[in-house]
Amino acid sequence: MDWELVQKIRGLYFSGKAQIDNYWQSQEVLEAYHETLAQRILWKWQEVFRLLKREGLDRYFTEVESVLDWGCGTGVAVESLLEVLPSRNSLSQVFLYDRSPISMAFARNRLKAKHESVGFVDGKSPAAMSLVSHVLSEMNPSQIKTCLSDIAGSQVILWLEPGTKDCSQKLSMVRQQLMAQYRVLAPCTHQRTCPFSLGDDDWCHFFAEPPSFIFQSSYWREFSDRLNIDLHTLPLSFLFMIKKEMETAVQLDEEDGIRCIGPIRKHKAYSEVVGCDAEGLCNIRFLKSRHKAKLKQMKKDSFALLTESSVKS
Ligand SMILES: C[S@@+](CC[C@H](N)C(=O)[O-])C[C@H]1O[C@@H](n2cnc3c(N)ncnc32)[C@H](O)[C@@H]1O
Repeated sequence: MDWELVQKIRGLYFSGKAQIDNYWQSQEVLEAYHETLAQRILWKWQEVFRLLKREGLDRYFTEVESVLDWGCGTGVAVESLLEVLPSRNSLSQVFLYDRSPISMAFARNRLKAKHESVGFVDGKSPAAMSLVSHVLSEMNPSQIKTCLSDIAGSQVILWLEPGTKDCSQKLSMVRQQLMAQYRVLAPCTHQRTCPFSLGDDDWCHFFAEPPSFIFQSSYWREFSDRLNIDLHTLPLSFLFMIKKEMETAVQLDEEDGIRCIGPIRKHKAYSEVVGCDAEGLCNIRFLKSRHKAKLKQMKKDSFALLTESSVKS
């Protein structure tokens, strides 16, 4: 691996230059990104799809016929969707859109080799489902507007961003703009204004579980050392929305539950987590002496959904 190249790409993301430059200048840059930073994004997508399946929300996209991956890069968003679709699925067309023509070609060639029955097309077109991944830090307000209008025809939108405060807050704004036409089904358990958009110090984010093999891998150890990235931490923010008109066709679940947000904060006698529901944000405390089993379970589940009664008990 050309680690200097990977360091250079990462440096671009931190410098803010990624907003201005099309940094996909060669096949080598795309390959270096794909084998390193994009894999971490893939693991986040896999975690979000696990959650959607667990909460029965995958029923909104298992029969999808067309998908748009907006800002596709090397195509890991679609790759992870293809992993979770049933083997006999209806997906026939995938639109891979990016400002960089060579990235669209890279993603198409890579995905085509694995999924011969799917038609991969470079460019954007209205599709039943839109996937958007890790683009908000690179776009100005007018580019975000273009993105929103490109995906607004979709029945289902799944949008994943790094779990930084800045990207999470931008995603909250995206949520607000889409709410007129869409119903948000995850991570939110309600359709009210996002409480994090009301000036809270905290922000909506979660942590994906990295695959265990990386902790035995010299390749990933070197990645971690060279880029100074903690392999244990995979923060993310996401949004899963369906068009309001779909409500007539499907049975929607009751608005219910308190979603646990961010890390569990440990104190001497108790642990605490931020919860979000229709009433806004709350701090939920778990006494070490009384809630041992619940805490153990919560540590394994970054997206825990609690009921009112379980919080009070
Ligand atoms: C950090 S990469 C993420 C790539 C991919 N979605 C992923 O999750 O690995 C951001 C991508 O957004 C693309 N991008 C940035 N601004 C864009 C714009 N205004 N229109 C289209 N694509 C854009 C970049 O070219 C790049 O491929």
